[in-house]
Amino acid sequence: MSEWWRTAAIYQVYPRSYADGNGDGIGDLAGVRQRLGHIRDLGVDAIWFSPWYPSPMADFGYDVADHRGIDPLFGTLAEAVRLIEEAHDLGLRVIIDVIPNHCSDQHPWFVRGIRDRFWFRPGRAPGLPPNDWQSVFGGPAWTQVEDGEWYLHLFAREQPDLNWTHPAVRADFEDILRFWFDRGVDGVRIDSATMCVKDPALVDAAPDRDEVHDIYRAWRRVADSYDPPRVLIGEVWLPDPARFAAYLRPDEMHTAFNFDFLGCPWDAKALRRCIDDTLAAHEVVGAPSTWVLSNHDVTRHVTRFGRADTAFDFASRGARHGMPVDLALGTRRARAAILLTAALPGSVYVYQGEELGLPEVEDLPSSVRQDPMHTRSAGADPGRDGCRVPLPWSSDLEPSWLPQPSSWAALSVAAQEADPASMLSLYRSALRLRRCLDGPMTWLDLGDEVLAFRRGTVVCMINISPRDVPLPSSTPLLTSEPIGAFLPPDTGVWLLDSGA
Ligand code: NOJ
Ligand code: CA
Repeated sequence: MSEWWRTAAIYQVYPRSYADGNGDGIGDLAGVRQRLGHIRDLGVDAIWFSPWYPSPMADFGYDVADHRGIDPLFGTLAEAVRLIEEAHDLGLRVIIDVIPNHCSDQHPWFVRGIRDRFWFRPGRAPGLPPNDWQSVFGGPAWTQVEDGEWYLHLFAREQPDLNWTHPAVRADFEDILRFWFDRGVDGVRIDSATMCVKDPALVDAAPDRDEVHDIYRAWRRVADSYDPPRVLIGEVWLPDPARFAAYLRPDEMHTAFNFDFLGCPWDAKALRRCIDDTLAAHEVVGAPSTWVLSNHDVTRHVTRFGRADTAFDFASRGARHGMPVDLALGTRRARAAILLTAALPGSVYVYQGEELGLPEVEDLPSSVRQDPMHTRSAGADPGRDGCRVPLPWSSDLEPSWLPQPSSWAALSVAAQEADPASMLSLYRSALRLRRCLDGPMTWLDLGDEVLAFRRGTVVCMINISPRDVPLPSSTPLLTSEPIGAFLPPDTGVWLLDSGA
């Protein structure tokens, strides 16, 4: 299908933590190549690789030193090209991460001191940065260099922000896109997409200035010059639905991550409102919605759904961290959640490990935590290491860059593969069966605490109430828990609707 991205299921690989091919405790491309079958067997359409470029790893690859290579920790460019071909041979498309807002302080432009491609400014007074902007990772967004000037970094100090008013920056990124598209890459995920353009006077800190859209219109022209056209997917965190949708106009990006859905609490009314708002915002621009439960930046949803407070946002991650978690409940809800997510119209993302029902590893000792969100906030934010612990492939857990809890032996791929009741088996069934779901959704009214909708001949029902709910007599295609005549609490089902 030419517009495959409209309905695609996309699996996110975080290369450092997917599979380790050479036994040094760090995931790599050899490991991904050995374990491509796992992704094919899940029944997804594409893989999105978090950054694999040469990087000092100050932000684990989101600090790129060379956009046209592969970090030696992960492998070589030749291996990446082979991996892309092997994925294609298995019918999987390949999306890579592109990071336009900033690069590494080890990028040749920064090392050579080409200051006009960054945001260098004098301080506003001796010892004081040019303004009071704060880094997303905590602390001031400015770092002073030897001659007294300061440079802007909206993330870590090792990630200087690029100056998108400079034509060389624009030209280089369009060339980077071509470099990878020429090597078979099917699309890019655009990191921090709203932040690239700054107020020229550096007064207004608000991200998302209108001029940013010119960048993506130019990228769309590059993407459309390929056959088949390549795909642009935006990381767009914006509360205003109209400003969000503006990125998805027909001559800009194809899709963007739905972070409202990701942050939504496990609550029927809130979920229904979020779904309706999402569909309405996307309809205006004719773009498909995406549905995301987890990624490499957020608390894994098995853990979120096992807490009394099931919502997610960065500001309160620290406060929620360590709150009591009922993992059995969180897992049960996560099973129902994938039946909801996979039944919705549009595209769906699966973050590596959610198909195993991995929880957040909340008890990593401070001494092993490495994420700059943790270190730069002096521990106030636990950071993102807990969702980046390497996947357990077999019950013999190998030493890895972040230690796996011993309880993960039971959650390993080997342990789950043979078990038809496992989370892995449920994901495989849901992702394969969702290919039969077609067309728009229509809500069915089963009260405030049950999400129920029809798509074609399939009805999806998710019971978010504390009570059993009677089921229609239709044939169940897939259920998240064993069911009889009733749908138990926190359970989902897909029914074949006879049309009665
Ligand atoms: C968003 C990425 O998902 C995150 O992991 C990264 O730290 C920031 N952008 C900065 O690149
Ligand atoms: Ca390795």
